Amino acid sequence: MSSSSIRRIAVNTGGGDAPGLNAVLRAVAVCARNRGFECLGIRDGYNGLLAPEQYPEGGLVPLSRERVRGITHLGGTILGTTNRGNPLAYPVRQADGSLREVDRSDEILSALARAQVDALIAIGGDGSLSIAGAFARKGLRVVGVPKTIDNDLEETVITFGFDTAVSFATECLDRLHSTAEAHRRIMVVEVMGRYAGWIALNAGVSGTADAILIPEVPYDLTKVAAHVEERYRSGHKFAIVVVAEGAQPVSGSLSVIEKEVGRAERLGGVGEKVARELQTLTGQEARHVVLGHLLRGGTPTTFDRLLSLRFGAAAVRALAEGHSGVMVALDPPTVRYVPLADATRRMKLVPLQSDSMLTARELGICFGD
Ligand code: F6P
Repeated sequence: MSSSSIRRIAVNTGGGDAPGLNAVLRAVAVCARNRGFECLGIRDGYNGLLAPEQYPEGGLVPLSRERVRGITHLGGTILGTTNRGNPLAYPVRQADGSLREVDRSDEILSALARAQVDALIAIGGDGSLSIAGAFARKGLRVVGVPKTIDNDLEETVITFGFDTAVSFATECLDRLHSTAEAHRRIMVVEVMGRYAGWIALNAGVSGTADAILIPEVPYDLTKVAAHVEERYRSGHKFAIVVVAEGAQPVSGSLSVIEKEVGRAERLGGVGEKVARELQTLTGQEARHVVLGHLLRGGTPTTFDRLLSLRFGAAAVRALAEGHSGVMVALDPPTVRYVPLADATRRMKLVPLQSDSMLTARELGICFGD
């Protein structure tokens, strides 16, 4: 299939926001226009198509040159996003008040056809890209763009948003060192990342943490406590412990805040538990900090801006070259196209024998194992 059959494309942003989304949108809109394609943005994931009446301006907004001007450096997404309302399992309230998950994908395909949209660029993480893959299987021309601060997508060396999250977490660790030292405390820092430890590992090594707890390595806090005590004995009377929100003890479970129909479970609370238990085990005062959504906000780093612009341009290029059912992926020094199914088959976890893990261990960082 060639680009000559494309006249109009749509783009959306789904799942949790990540720094760089607006840069991708700008690249998609500008590159599409330069190839003679009209570009529409779908509001709030697919809600602009499923519930257009909610949007006074319409659920589909033309992404004109004017609308995407000056947004490369802005966090968030000008289209809005949502991590509820997966169209393949959309929560619909039943007469008895309960929620049932319904497949509404055909409604979306019809709405796109009515709007004379020839192809879709879906910017998202594993959930949004799995949905994009389902649309591709139903015959829609689709290209995915890998977004997530968690960096847990296969087939791309890195997702956009991750570098900004790690940079900010590292800056926070730098700042926490002085207050930890001043009070001779253990500071426990909880970071996002869902079931993968990429943010915790990269920020923890860069920010010289003493211990890093990640989902890939179940931890034993008595080992972390022994490591901290040894540090205090050697004269360094403070410690920094980074905990990924998905980390769990060897004999224990994941810390989940809530689980509701139609959305992923919310993780959190492990930092507080770890601080409390380390205080008991070591007798040293401990405090915890949850970086949470601060990791998702704000200006993308230069790396993320450039990657986002490259991904956006490559997504339009892929459509123009006749590709569909693929995701753009960073494979330095280039960006290539990989099947969406390969990217979403399984979660990309931190390999235990990776150079970063070996580096951390060789630097004396404790993983609680
Ligand atoms: O996937 C991105 C992410 O920020 C995770 O790291 C985190 O667990 C989750 O989203 C938080 O989601 P919400 O914004 O719904 O609380």
